Amino acid sequence: MAEGGKKKNGEKWSSQMFFVLAAIGSAVGLGNIWRLPYTIGMNGGGAFVILYVLAVMLIGFPGLLFELAAGRGLGTGLLEAYRKIAGRMWWLGLLPILMIWVILSYYTVVVGWTLFYFTASLFGVFIPFGEAVSLWWLPVFGFISLLIVEFISRADITKGLEKVNAFLFPVFTLCLLILFGFALTLPGFGEGIAYLTTFSWEDLLVPAIITAAIAQAVFSLSVGEGIMFTYGSYLKKNARLLGSSLSIAFADTLIGLVSATIIFAIVFTFSLAPEAGPSLAFQSLPLAVGGLPFGNILLAVFFLLLFSVAVTSAISMSELLISNIKPHVGNTRHRASIVQLGLTLLLFVPAALTYSPVGLELFGMPFFDLLDQKIAGMFLPAVVAVFLGSLAWMWKDARGALRSVAPELLADAVYFIAKYVLPVLILALFITEMA
Ligand code: PHE
Repeated sequence: MAEGGKKKNGEKWSSQMFFVLAAIGSAVGLGNIWRLPYTIGMNGGGAFVILYVLAVMLIGFPGLLFELAAGRGLGTGLLEAYRKIAGRMWWLGLLPILMIWVILSYYTVVVGWTLFYFTASLFGVFIPFGEAVSLWWLPVFGFISLLIVEFISRADITKGLEKVNAFLFPVFTLCLLILFGFALTLPGFGEGIAYLTTFSWEDLLVPAIITAAIAQAVFSLSVGEGIMFTYGSYLKKNARLLGSSLSIAFADTLIGLVSATIIFAIVFTFSLAPEAGPSLAFQSLPLAVGGLPFGNILLAVFFLLLFSVAVTSAISMSELLISNIKPHVGNTRHRASIVQLGLTLLLFVPAALTYSPVGLELFGMPFFDLLDQKIAGMFLPAVVAVFLGSLAWMWKDARGALRSVAPELLADAVYFIAKYVLPVLILALFITEMA
């Protein structure tokens, strides 16, 4: 490494606005439109909504500000930064990267579903998920999605990532507005709102629901897995972070809640089961909407929405992987993106085969669900806590970096949350749930 290992990442955003758009693009994803509604449905409605919003304010937003400040301050790829601050414990920086490798592998499978359904809806066709799994289309479209992600990420950020985010942001905002307008006309709209806002006090204290809310908040904000760190490292040293972090957290949460409102308006209008789980968006819901006048157009808009938010999130994951592979393959993005593709395929193939005629299972569980629920679902909060916690403990400038981007009181509170509250809370929840 040239210059005594102090080599910088090199790439920089063209402007602060492109950075904010890319961060929103990463945050807003299937987590908002697909995962949030069904997770609310599976965790008792209103109570989960309250806990989720609290988790965003108390953990998600502070985590986001801290991670961005760390990326901006350290200014290198994640692993390189850990070599600098953690010495022999550098491998701690590998944990979030491995987590994102797992998430990206099955996330692109779902991107494939959205692309398949979008394409089919353009031809006026809808195949319920239960039937689609007996065809080869889903994995094939998954593979196409993987190639799209790879194609975008092989270009420099100003030529690939930024352009795609700037293009897709208005696309998904428009889709969302159209669907919200449609939801407003539905008789079940009020019932949906009531479902999202009614709760029982006991539910607020259930450890499993609290963990699920924290997991959803960090997943949805793309916080605590090194992506925001990487995006922060592409900022100029004097870039301002407080306003940007607030906008990112606000936009992501608003879009999540608006999506949930849309989905539950449909659920209650057509008497669907709120707790249908992951297939909600690909089975019950399209069946109901597809039967309406203009139903096909609505479905096309819905799947375009899903596809566009999913792609911008997937490329952010691939960016984390590529930025950390790059220094090891002669510093070229091109090569790094090929290595990234190869590594992702290792898990993508079995995940994609789960919902195909093969129906792959491992340990009696669909392989895809194993990745989504067991690995990502259970360990995500722990990885986030270890990552943000270790940054706070091991990086000597952590508090100073926070104070340079936020008023002292807020900066110190964020530092305290990352250093003590988050690790203790996650550990406590982990233990209670295991018991
Ligand atoms: N935040 C994205 C979503 O809501 C998913 C994601 C998770 C992206 C982790 C990057 C990192 O879908």
